[in-house]
Amino acid sequence: MEKENIYILGIESSCDDTSAAILCNDLILSNVVANQKIHAEYGGVVPELASRAHQQNIVPVVHRAIEKAGISKNQLSAIAFTRGPGLMGSLLVGTSFAKSLAFGLEIPLIDINHMQAHILAHFIDEPDHNKPPFPFLAMTISGGHTQIVRVDDYFKMEVLGETIDDAVGEAYDKSGKVLGLGYPAGPEIDKCARLGNPKAYTFTKPKVDGLNFSFSGLKTAILYFVQREVKANPNFIQENLNDICASIQYTIIGILMDKLKLAVKQTGIKHIAIGGGVSANSGIRKALKLAEQKHGWTTYIPKFEYTTDNAAMIAIVGYLKYLEKDFSDFDVTATARLKI
Ligand code: KG4
Ligand code: ZN
Repeated sequence: MEKENIYILGIESSCDDTSAAILCNDLILSNVVANQKIHAEYGGVVPELASRAHQQNIVPVVHRAIEKAGISKNQLSAIAFTRGPGLMGSLLVGTSFAKSLAFGLEIPLIDINHMQAHILAHFIDEPDHNKPPFPFLAMTISGGHTQIVRVDDYFKMEVLGETIDDAVGEAYDKSGKVLGLGYPAGPEIDKCARLGNPKAYTFTKPKVDGLNFSFSGLKTAILYFVQREVKANPNFIQENLNDICASIQYTIIGILMDKLKLAVKQTGIKHIAIGGGVSANSGIRKALKLAEQKHGWTTYIPKFEYTTDNAAMIAIVGYLKYLEKDFSDFDVTATARLKI
């Protein structure tokens, strides 16, 4: 007998992107993301504006995802949604929408941990992407998170280290603000960094025990450094932007790679997967490729559209949970501080 296809609708609304995706087994049929431009003028995500924008976006985004997938909503096997972690108001929009639709269609509801989804995005079936074997180490790096996780199986994960203050993406965005760059500043710093001298300026790396990270001291060091230099030369930023960005990037990548090396040393695991918005960074990608040659690691970098927040990663976890019949009760609630 032919195996029945499983169609999952994934919904992601944890921060400032509204996204819906349709999966047929482990294959993506559609992945629609509506970015919220409104936050750029404030230099960061404004939670209240984010939840209002989700309310406006969610119906058209889900509709578009179903249409693009070429299926009808009656073919859906289950609905997976981000339960947390994230902004409460934003999570509530996706959670209530997913519940109502699953209830109306009389299909299972599956709650998803956003951080697990960043990691399990590596199990989406893609032509040029190898799936990491268990056990592997995952480093999730974005505007909201910085973690190193040991992954022994799909749902057997242990956080080995995480940031004690800012996330790495925040370090990029806040440094960018000091330099007068737009939000989010990560991609722009990355672009300028490629043209500059990474050793032009030295920033001290934070001393944090074990596999935890800290980025707030670096942010302050960059702020004081720029203020001091601008006092002496008002054109300092314009004249040295590439070198400043290259030096910031060099320091941040150094911090991430030092911790990864320590994690490999402690666990003996040499399969390393990354995820989250900062994994689009050219510096970290290059550093990982070098580590493959130098330390014998095998590294896994997701396709660009699965690095930033997206519903395809929610849908793939939905599929994996569907196979285990791990469904949610309809009284499940959004949880802003959900742990892995
Ligand atoms: O995963 P994501 O879209 O959303 C969160 O969950 O935060 O990540 C967004 C973060 C922002 O801080 C942005 O500046 C950063 O990812 N980012 C980058 C690059 N592209 C995005 N940081 C450094 N280099 C990049 N190329
Ligand atoms: Zn995320």
